[in-house]
Amino acid sequence: MGKAGLGRARARARAQERRQSRLNEVARLRQVPYTQQQRWWCSETTAVVTGSNRGIGFEIVRQLSKHGLRVILTSRDVSKGQEAMTSLQREGFNVDFHQLDISDHDSITRFSEWIVQKYDGLDVLINNAGVNFNLGSDNSMEFAEEVIRTNYLGTKLMIEAMVPRMKPSPFGARIVNVSSRLGRLNGRRNRLGDAALRQQLSDDATLSEELINCTVSKFLEQVKQGSWVSGGWPQNFTDYSVSKLAVNAYTRLLAKRLLTRSDVQKVYINCYCPGWVKTAMTGWQGNNTLEEGADTGVWLALMSCPLPSGKFFAERREISF
Ligand SMILES: NC(=O)c1ccc[n+]([C@@H]2O[C@H](COP(=O)([O-])OP(=O)(O)OC[C@H]3O[C@@H](n4cnc5c(N)ncnc54)[C@H](OP(=O)(O)O)[C@@H]3O)[C@@H](O)[C@H]2O)c1
Repeated sequence: MGKAGLGRARARARAQERRQSRLNEVARLRQVPYTQQQRWWCSETTAVVTGSNRGIGFEIVRQLSKHGLRVILTSRDVSKGQEAMTSLQREGFNVDFHQLDISDHDSITRFSEWIVQKYDGLDVLINNAGVNFNLGSDNSMEFAEEVIRTNYLGTKLMIEAMVPRMKPSPFGARIVNVSSRLGRLNGRRNRLGDAALRQQLSDDATLSEELINCTVSKFLEQVKQGSWVSGGWPQNFTDYSVSKLAVNAYTRLLAKRLLTRSDVQKVYINCYCPGWVKTAMTGWQGNNTLEEGADTGVWLALMSCPLPSGKFFAERREISF
């Protein structure tokens, strides 16, 4: 190995050490029980987790239930969802189930009516459902439309439908979007090539829903025309990265709108990256366990006031968009 190669290997080893040491610290923090003052929630506090029949979503349901919340496990497939709910109920957790496909408007409407009728609304929404069809160095755009429709548009539909159903509370309702560092605007790698677009999306003065929608539409248009390769899009898992970039930008945009609501109507919204987690999505290739992948989402959902909003987190720390 040459000098440069050796340097890169050392840098990788140091980064790996730093990551492991942070994960160890977070594992220690996870064992620290919440005090009575920190516990703003009770057994009737209702949390909804999308796409939670398996993977990170399932683990988020488990951890929130363990902390004593009532959790609604949702799944697009009824039998998978019921099976997942039953396995948690057998462990003694307070978990209910309802069908929910976040890319299906009617399914969201049915869910929305049910949550109001049965529980009078919700306090916490974890937007976890997501898809990715590439593994390793694959970068096929065959399912780009489905990826954008689920990860970005589905998440947005859920937020639009659930915000009016969120219960007023002096502690604020909470939304956590499970996102990814792959969607970072200003990361060193995998970012948008168009510096002007990056700037527009970064700047709160120019960021708008229309800009985000136009960006994903332009991407899908180029996929259709077969011209996306030269379009300056993120190079790895391109469709997935664009979908998460849109989720991140939407989180920042919405946070500003939601904070203008009156005190008891406040809704805090943040997003986080769970790391590279051993789930079906990664072909169980990730570094992180399910427990580690769920951790920051649960921590954000349970955080005491004053809460951040419109921020991006990983391993219980704020990171840049
Ligand atoms: N694993 C990682 O390394 C990693 C890294 C960064 C971010 N994330 C994010 O973490 C979240 C969870 O991923 P995971 O790794 O746990 O993957 P996973 O095991 O594949 O779980 C994804 C879940 O989303 C559900 N889902 C997909 N489309 C849906 C739809 N239209 N409506 C409702 N549910 C739907 C899936 O349901 P089915 O069982 O029916 O398919 C499944 O329950 C995703 O948002 C993902 O992008 C994961």
